Amino acid sequence: MVRETVLTPESFIYPLFVHAGADAIDIVSMPGVRRLPVGCLLEECEAAWALGIPAVAIFPAIAPDLKDALGSHSLEAGNILFQAVREVKKALPEMVVITDVALDPYTSHGHDGVLSADGSEVANDETVAILCELAVKEAEAGADIVAPSDMMDGRVGEIRSALDAAGFEKTIILSYAAKYASAYYGPFRDAVGSKIGKDAISKATYQMDPANVREAAREVALDVAEGADMVMVKPAGAYLDVIRAVREVTDLPLAAYQVSGEYSQIHAAAKLGWLDYERTRDESLLAIKRAGADMILTYFAREVAAKLARA
Ligand code: PBG
Repeated sequence: MVRETVLTPESFIYPLFVHAGADAIDIVSMPGVRRLPVGCLLEECEAAWALGIPAVAIFPAIAPDLKDALGSHSLEAGNILFQAVREVKKALPEMVVITDVALDPYTSHGHDGVLSADGSEVANDETVAILCELAVKEAEAGADIVAPSDMMDGRVGEIRSALDAAGFEKTIILSYAAKYASAYYGPFRDAVGSKIGKDAISKATYQMDPANVREAAREVALDVAEGADMVMVKPAGAYLDVIRAVREVTDLPLAAYQVSGEYSQIHAAAKLGWLDYERTRDESLLAIKRAGADMILTYFAREVAAKLARA
């Protein structure tokens, strides 16, 4: 009766990995998560939908020989992401399909954008131009929400104009507005094969400094002014204060991404017998909701929704 926060399946967004291979492949650093062929992806989406999860975020794992410095495969008609989006929307028209707008699954160097001519940095404006094309193609494939996760400056406004010009006025933009340069993305980079070399440019040149919280409010304000429909804080568990701060400065729907490393560390500690798996998992999600997130992207979505359905 006096409980202030509850977990519900409607607040979950389920991230899933798709690849062009014939079999589902385990991701060793993310127990229970696999790279799925499109057929298995559909089954996973159907199961999630049946449990009341309204949305999936689909990430492609691209074969290394299809990657190049420009991430060109991202724009190729019929690539595995576009195929997957089409199939999911065909099978489950009402399921909300979210796609990342970033180049990291497709670039040989693993960056979210293209590099400057001398290779010394990720080139903001050149990247934004490609992201606009990518967002339009994702919308054409059927994505309901496009989610720029690249952290280039000015991309939300440019993507909004590009979508509108292509007739996708209704496509929603979920901006990864406050995305930190975090160690917690490690297992995800295993999953999509986007590991950055040791001597490479750091993602800290475009993602946020984990030391900053006021900057998150500034990033959100910029994205809102540029036309974001929803905003995201990422990672979630180590950034509860950021979720709260963002909650206070915007009325837009607020998503938080419980990222791969947050998922994997709970699995690892439970495997060692050091933490209780279910209790830690549920507490981690409750804390994110309590901090002020409306929606949580979490790899736990399906199993927690199944537990809620049994309760
Ligand atoms: C990249 C992207 C990343 C994640 C989602 N989109 C990783 C990165 O910035 O390198 C991470 C998600 C996770 O760790 O679960 N555009």
